[in-house]
Amino acid sequence: MFDYDAELKFYREAFRTACGIRPGDRVLDVGCGTGQTTRDAARDAAPGPVLGVDVSERMLDHARRSTTAGNVTYVAADATTYDFAPVDVCISRFGVMFFADPARAFSNLRRAASRVAFLVWQPRAENEWARVIPEAIGGAFRDDSPFTLGDPEATRDILTTAGFVEPTFTALREPLYYGPDVESAYENVLQLREPQALLAELDPPDAVRARSTLREALAAHATADGVLFDSAAWIVTTE
Ligand SMILES: C[S@@+](CC[C@H](N)C(=O)[O-])C[C@H]1O[C@@H](n2cnc3c(N)ncnc32)[C@H](O)[C@@H]1O
Repeated sequence: MFDYDAELKFYREAFRTACGIRPGDRVLDVGCGTGQTTRDAARDAAPGPVLGVDVSERMLDHARRSTTAGNVTYVAADATTYDFAPVDVCISRFGVMFFADPARAFSNLRRAASRVAFLVWQPRAENEWARVIPEAIGGAFRDDSPFTLGDPEATRDILTTAGFVEPTFTALREPLYYGPDVESAYENVLQLREPQALLAELDPPDAVRARSTLREALAAHATADGVLFDSAAWIVTTE
């Protein structure tokens, strides 16, 4: 499985700080995936309970196997409709941009919490990783769902309509990490769904060329700290 925690390692502490979780807090982690932020929240909230919710059983299997803390529960459910118990804070690292019905989903989350800390991507144009990798393969990623909350004005409208008060947007710009060297970054990128889809559409000779230009693009981003691409996100918080 692609190591998403490694890719996001430069965001980890800033997000944890933004969550502002205190001992005893009840926490909901939306779209918790394999649960790194759920486990960080559990350490900060202990003995308070932390619930991680995700639609993907596969992700939750991984999360459960990686979690030993006694104050964590995971549930497989759609956050749009699940009947959550009230919590002190609702958090999400890149897990709230994918709702088919954002108005309904954020209204449902507002019933559980008034305080939130969400990490969401800024628009694709601000995210080098989301431009350079598909361009190197000779295509464009078609799935814009990761960027649906990238416009602060539109997102503020969605959140205030759902009942959240005065959302604050704090810009963060951090490198994304794809691996210690070009070869491992190449193998990692080839595990991602969208590069795979773009490559699968190409004729074999074009696919060979695309793999070669992808490798060159990764080599151009190799640093002493590994293969890094620029990225930009918002931390969205409410009190
Ligand atoms: C980009 S991943 C982020 C995972 C995790 N927050 C992390 O940082 O490692 C987005 C996650 O949101 C989950 N997700 C998408 N829509 C959801 C929904 N409606 N309800 C619950 N989870 C959802 C996906 O299954 C996926 O695990």
